[in-house]
Amino acid sequence: MRKLAVLTSGGDSPGMNAAIRAVVRYGIYNNINVVGIRNGFEGLVEGNHMEMNLSSVADIIHRGGTILGSARSKEFMEEEGFQKALRNIKYLGIEGLVIIGGGGSFKGAMKLEKAGVSTVCIPGTIDNDLPYTKYTLGFFTALTTVLESVEKIRDTSSSHNRSNVIEVMGRDCGDIALYAGLAGGAEMVIIPEIEHNIDEVCDKIMQGRARGKRHSIIILAEGAGDAKEISERIEQKTGIITRYSILGYTQRGGAPAAYDRLIGSQMGAHAVKLLCQNKRNRAVGTDGGQVFDMDLDEAVAVKKVFDESTYELTKILSI
Ligand code: F6P
Repeated sequence: MRKLAVLTSGGDSPGMNAAIRAVVRYGIYNNINVVGIRNGFEGLVEGNHMEMNLSSVADIIHRGGTILGSARSKEFMEEEGFQKALRNIKYLGIEGLVIIGGGGSFKGAMKLEKAGVSTVCIPGTIDNDLPYTKYTLGFFTALTTVLESVEKIRDTSSSHNRSNVIEVMGRDCGDIALYAGLAGGAEMVIIPEIEHNIDEVCDKIMQGRARGKRHSIIILAEGAGDAKEISERIEQKTGIITRYSILGYTQRGGAPAAYDRLIGSQMGAHAVKLLCQNKRNRAVGTDGGQVFDMDLDEAVAVKKVFDESTYELTKILSI
């Protein structure tokens, strides 16, 4: 391996910079030239790149976002754009590509693999929706950000004796809501994996009120319903003033948590190691302790097994 490239694609996630830094520095340590592709697959189509050296990644491990920029590129998925990307890869002499992103980015990697480009993927998304890996890069930071907001909202909820619905991200995956519900002591979580019953939600709120609780926090995953509509229904049924907050993009930014810096560094180095060993079409993941890799097509095909026990525990503890 003489030259490799790294790009970040799709929704950014905290820890991407740690992974970029590791790819660049571990690559240079192995005498490989490293090129950074700007703005995800769009940069491949446009040939928008930067030569990376040790200093290009100095002072970034603790920063949110991605220094390479990210995008969701339509052009790359179309034939003309894709062919342009292939020509640029050849022109730049790129022999291996590290792709940091979510499910859509993995699909882009598979397309490149089929066209003969060696790729290794790192799961960079706050959503935790790539079931082959226990955790995705950025998930824990997003959780921390959500918990900060939950605590602030609970303060005002208690002062005013209200209920609050808090909508979090996750696309079709309820993990941010579920884990934030457990770690944040929410009264209820509403997630796409489990059909919710509004009467059950309201009963739970009323039980808490009967015990003298002055707040009710309901964490709603974005893929499970509409925050405004759900809060209106809760207010109607319980008679308790119910407000809603949509946390939105705050969840994608901010300094990465220690865990995301660690796995970002480990996964970045692991990806380079694989390319050095001429391994390709791989997805890097973590089992919660160790970093591992597996065939990219197999990784994408892994089906999510719903974390029933965490859901049950959240319900039991939120009495
Ligand atoms: O994939 C990460 C994510 O933040 C999802 O949670 C959310 O649904 C989506 O991206 C938002 O995408 P965009 O940045 O295109 O608005």
